[in-house]
Amino acid sequence: MSKWWRDAVIYQIYPKSFKDTNADGYGDLPGITQKLGDIATLGVDGIWLSPFYPSPQKDSGYDVSDYYGVDPIFGTLADFTEMVDKAHQLNLKVLLDLVPNHTSSEHPWFQHALNSEAGSDARAMYLFTDGRGEHGELPPNNWQSMFGGPAWTRVKEKNGEYGQWYCHLFDPSQPDLNWRNPEVISEFQKIMKFWFELGADGFRVDQPHALIKADGFPDHPYVETAGAGYLEGEVDPPMWFQPEVHDIMRKLRETADESGEKVLCGEGYVLPLSKMAQWLRPDELHQNFNFRFLDAHWVESIIKEIIDESITAFHEVGSQSTWTMNNHDVVRSVSRFGSAYSRPTQSDGIGPEDVQPNNRLGGEISIGATLLMLALPGNCYLYQGEELGLPDHTTIASTDRQDPTFFRTEGVRVGRDGARAPIPWDESGANLGFSKATKTWLPQPESYKNYIRPGNKTLAVYQAALLLRKKHNLGAGQFNWIDGDLFGFQNNEVRVYHNFDLEPKRMPAGEILISSLGSSESLLPNETVWLIG
Ligand code: GLC
Repeated sequence: MSKWWRDAVIYQIYPKSFKDTNADGYGDLPGITQKLGDIATLGVDGIWLSPFYPSPQKDSGYDVSDYYGVDPIFGTLADFTEMVDKAHQLNLKVLLDLVPNHTSSEHPWFQHALNSEAGSDARAMYLFTDGRGEHGELPPNNWQSMFGGPAWTRVKEKNGEYGQWYCHLFDPSQPDLNWRNPEVISEFQKIMKFWFELGADGFRVDQPHALIKADGFPDHPYVETAGAGYLEGEVDPPMWFQPEVHDIMRKLRETADESGEKVLCGEGYVLPLSKMAQWLRPDELHQNFNFRFLDAHWVESIIKEIIDESITAFHEVGSQSTWTMNNHDVVRSVSRFGSAYSRPTQSDGIGPEDVQPNNRLGGEISIGATLLMLALPGNCYLYQGEELGLPDHTTIASTDRQDPTFFRTEGVRVGRDGARAPIPWDESGANLGFSKATKTWLPQPESYKNYIRPGNKTLAVYQAALLLRKKHNLGAGQFNWIDGDLFGFQNNEVRVYHNFDLEPKRMPAGEILISSLGSSESLLPNETVWLIG
């Protein structure tokens, strides 16, 4: 087996905002097929597609109502196979998004559960239970949903009276499945096989750490400080990373292995990294996003510590770190690093009322950070538009917002729409070549006209770096720190330096392969350079 994923660079496509070919304001699968050449030219090894399955789109497709189809806004199954075939011709692997923690409330399983009695098999597909209080009128516990508000909703039973409650760690339109039920496991194994047979090379697995909830649904011990959150406490929160999830991962891995060389990348927000690594033992997931790196403040000592910890933790289980700085849930790195080192966490976003980021500074830090990341051993995930240096759309009007976070928190957290604005392709076309529609599903900021492809400097750095990363086999390289007053490490024959200081530094000796800001004489603040010789 080639284990191609261990050093691969995967490009995340958020289909709704990638390229629209039928002028409805949403990107679609034919749009992806049309632009696959651009992705291949970038020099990545594969793509991961956020969900395109039939969905009421309450959480932009992470609320699936049919796991076996394509939502009409994205096209058809035939469009899917055409896209996969073209990707494979271009030597790009194709990962899809598996959403196992919850379905849409419109999924037939949930509709059946709603129409069935308490204690029925149909209800056993989900997490239904009685409420607290004399008449069960209070939620079963204190859990909060990730998008704000309680993680429980009470249903009306057939007699017209309020009855049981169901658990939803996200929106009420996303009821959580019961992964202690073997039927749920076998249904998902079937779903995986269906897409593998249609050519998928693997899945990014949504929220795997949430699949099992502690028996009896005990209260969250530190809900007041951590919300539904992930803080490392003395005890594990009752809804995240319960030990039984390992068994489920093993089942999913078996299915992946039986289907050929298929890969599973978890979105497991598990900390510390030594614990995350336990999910990557040889019979569990192949990889998991390194969220500690993604969330990090860009500070020398922190980055150093994270790299050390990551390499040690993942290597200990025979796996590798999965480096990433962007996805559809976080403020884009340009705007994050341009925000005075604040760390807008998942779902929070930057809105028109907030201090606006310095995207010029953020852009410099971001490209330097990316060049550093691409030189690390392991595999990387990029998010559409970061190769253009796109910032977030930080001035979206309330009336244009889509993220349930915004609505569930009454605007207190503006949510993730800023990272999801349609991406620009060319200067002349409507909506910068994204769509011929008069209104796109999310507005595009005017500033995106400064980030189109021809002549985009960030794009040139990404392309050159990806080529060099392959040439010098950095994804599978030997890593060592270089002592000195500059942050530096060696990977295979390449030496990598980053200037964390506020002053320019003397450029270290050697032949420059690439530098993030194009310097050759001195290393500017926030700049990264790769040297050889
Ligand atoms: C993951 C997805 C996010 C979604 C959530 C619920 O975090 O990346 O977009 O809202 O899961 O499915």
